[in-house]
Amino acid sequence: MNWLFKKRNQKEKEITAVSFNADEKIPQHIAIIMDGNGRWAQNKFMPRIAGHKEGMNTVKKVTKRASQMGVKVLSLYAFSTENWKRPDDEVSFLMQLPVDFFDTFVPELMEQNVQVQVMGFIEQLPKHTRNAVEKAIADTKENTGMVLNFALNYGGRSELIEASKAIAEKVKAGEIEVEDITESLFEESLMTHALKDYQNVDFMIRTSGEERISNFMLWQNAYSEFYFSQELWPDFNEQALEQAIGVYQKRHRRFGGL
Ligand code: FPP
Repeated sequence: MNWLFKKRNQKEKEITAVSFNADEKIPQHIAIIMDGNGRWAQNKFMPRIAGHKEGMNTVKKVTKRASQMGVKVLSLYAFSTENWKRPDDEVSFLMQLPVDFFDTFVPELMEQNVQVQVMGFIEQLPKHTRNAVEKAIADTKENTGMVLNFALNYGGRSELIEASKAIAEKVKAGEIEVEDITESLFEESLMTHALKDYQNVDFMIRTSGEERISNFMLWQNAYSEFYFSQELWPDFNEQALEQAIGVYQKRHRRFGGL
């Protein structure tokens, strides 16, 4: 057994051994790359879209549990700017999901005091998707609990380019000087600016065993803790979330310090 494999094995044991403690720190902003829907379906000899449908149920479970635990923001990568490359029928299904999700789940979001927000290039979404999203945002806008922040047609690099363009325009118009460009000014032009004190991600979870960031919240993940779960997204649930948070509670965040 080589060193790396041994280390990984130890890590897996550490992961199964820890449990979440409700009295310890809870990550304020959790971001999730919900990966593995297609594989989940294929493993069951079902079409890929069946995996996305089941994935939507996982979103409901995880949203509810995160909100009960006191998480302030839950950002979910539902559709990336690269996902348009998938077959047309899969894209159509994914564009219908927010409609079904909000149709069936807004009453529970109201009960949980959860506010819906969306980040991404939503003007490029089909009308029925955009309408469903805008209605959910409007219906929940007075809620003061957890923010459920959906990334829809979102890409981290495009977000940074758009922010840079907006700032360049301000310089060009003489509204600000180049010297005025700071991290906090930059953040004002990001798609997360409405999240105010919770723009930065504390804990980034990716399911399905893949270990990459896939253009998700590149700025906001600068100092987040990463957690890679072996479960495929439709198999992830409340207990898996608790286990992940248990691991987070054992981490020491240093933000570049000692
Ligand atoms: C990645 O799995 C998943 C997606 C691209 C879609 C995520 C969407 C959901 C979880 C549904 C919930 C959405 C809403 C709006 C409620 P994959 O298809 O890449 O899986 P694979 O890697 O196994 O093929």
